[in-house]
Amino acid sequence: MLNRRNFLTAAVGVAATAGLAACAKEDGSSSDSSGGGSKAITLGFAQVGSESGWRTANTDSVKASAKEAGFKLQFSDAQQKPENQISAIRSFIAQKVDVIAFSPVVVTGWDAVLKEAQAAKIPVVLTDRSVDSDESLFVTLVGSDFTDEGRRAAKILEKVLEQAGHKGKVKIAQLEGTTGAAPAIERAKGFKEVMDAEHKDDWEIVASQTGDFTRAGGKQVMQAFLQSNPDIDVLFAHNDDMGLGAIQAIEAAGKKPGKDILIVTVDGVKDGFVAMSEGKINAIVECNPLLGPQLMEVVKTVHEGGKVERWIKTEESDFMQDQAKDALPTRKY
Ligand code: AHR
Repeated sequence: MLNRRNFLTAAVGVAATAGLAACAKEDGSSSDSSGGGSKAITLGFAQVGSESGWRTANTDSVKASAKEAGFKLQFSDAQQKPENQISAIRSFIAQKVDVIAFSPVVVTGWDAVLKEAQAAKIPVVLTDRSVDSDESLFVTLVGSDFTDEGRRAAKILEKVLEQAGHKGKVKIAQLEGTTGAAPAIERAKGFKEVMDAEHKDDWEIVASQTGDFTRAGGKQVMQAFLQSNPDIDVLFAHNDDMGLGAIQAIEAAGKKPGKDILIVTVDGVKDGFVAMSEGKINAIVECNPLLGPQLMEVVKTVHEGGKVERWIKTEESDFMQDQAKDALPTRKY
């Protein structure tokens, strides 16, 4: 997986990987958009699924940007199953697409198929989520720093607790994303990092389980959390959708979300902002899904044999409840 250290040393090796794209053109196994621009670039994109509002916005962004760039897009929805993504990538290789991009459902299990893409001289661009494979097997990652999002969630929780006048011990429930997915692993890691460093004595995660990044999962797991831990002070949900499902469970249990249980989520989709403007979510750490335009630029550069950075990070903000009403009309997703 990419981390801060290898991000800083990222430039090394990029030329070699980008050279792979040049090879793809040289041996004629792939369409050529250079020198006359006769052929459109064919991009194979293997999406995670449609588990959340974030994912819908991401898919829309990829499709619209590919169209805008004049690329031929082969789009596949893996329905949150890594094996479906592997089949899609194999089919892209068989079709000899120019570039493959995908957002890996989980971090493990990609070595074989990435080696097949490399052997076929088709460059692979990761988008949104990373993998734990050797970095020589993909060109770059276009996406967020999920560990930092976890840290930011912990830091914004400090402000939320202060505003709520909460004193003493803090019992935290955590709704994790899909088990084994980069955002689930890294958001939990970043949050714990701040908690261990600065709140060892007062914060405690009393319950933590996956809700698979879905609204239904968030609701179901929160119901169980409330039964086993009726005195939860805080919910940290790894995405808005799970937080929104949890809000339904909290209300059904006769509690007030945002007051009896303080809630911090990640993403910043419109539905999350609506809940925050209604006082039901206390703070949101933004994770921007509008990766399409950057991805198309990278695909074009890579296809032309140009250099790109190893990790093209997304710019994001954090929002407290009192900013929600003003920010809502300008939200783009
Ligand atoms: O990988 C990004 C995460 O995946 C988003 O936070 C979540 O909503 C989505 O399902």
